[in-house]
Amino acid sequence: MSELVHLAIIMDGNGRWAVKRNLPRVAGHLEGLKSLKKVIKGAIDEGIKYLTVYCFSTENWKRPEAEVKYLMALFTNKVYGEIKAISSLGVQVRLLGNRSGLPEAALKALDKTCEETRNNSLLILQLAINYGGQDEIVRAVNSLIADGVKEVDAAMIRSRFDNPDIPPADFIVRSAGEERLSNFLLFDSAYSELGFYDKLWPDWDEEMIKTVKQDFLRRTRRFGGLA
Ligand code: IPE
Ligand code: IPE
Ligand code: MG
Repeated sequence: MSELVHLAIIMDGNGRWAVKRNLPRVAGHLEGLKSLKKVIKGAIDEGIKYLTVYCFSTENWKRPEAEVKYLMALFTNKVYGEIKAISSLGVQVRLLGNRSGLPEAALKALDKTCEETRNNSLLILQLAINYGGQDEIVRAVNSLIADGVKEVDAAMIRSRFDNPDIPPADFIVRSAGEERLSNFLLFDSAYSELGFYDKLWPDWDEEMIKTVKQDFLRRTRRFGGLA
């Protein structure tokens, strides 16, 4: 039976959650941050080692300016405090994504969160912000080209990712019913199990991670070989 070491989540449905309650879409993002805290606790309880969460895609810049601003303000003003509050649990934060394009203030707050949690090791939390799977591959290849590399292989590309020490996700799950990757982890998802759940992200909690883990444990992974 395979172990759930790395869980990755496409946190979707914040907007729908808010609209259902006649609230502005951004209220869903704020509520989504609360779910993230519960899910982090759930992941620790379930013995998960790496948790990657999709917070903002390279395509999310297409959203209305006010919503983008709100999300950037959350990364700048809220993430540090919220993570700090649970960092005593042993959470180490890592950033995943393209730094260029992110506001200076957001980067400063996120870097501070990473720096202050870097000695924690119970759970490694990757925040995918301004992340795109295609962008990740392109940046890696360009960094190899800049070093004069003429021909690449998969291991070389992967070695230039933001956090090459973090293994590929065993299970990629998405909330809110949509069944697509939306440019998430394109390279490393080669053999990830996939799971889609109808529950909107702001309704996720510790219990949901138990369910997710049980679902994963029922999967048979073959990696192209035989079971
Ligand atoms: C996910 O929720 C959060 C981000 C993409 C930033 P959405 O904002 O996509 O919520 P829906 O899909 O519109 O309901
Ligand atoms: C994917 O959700 C990105 C994040 C969860 C951050 P979207 O809501 O942006 O994806 P699409 O546009 O429905 O594919
Ligand atoms: Mg969405």
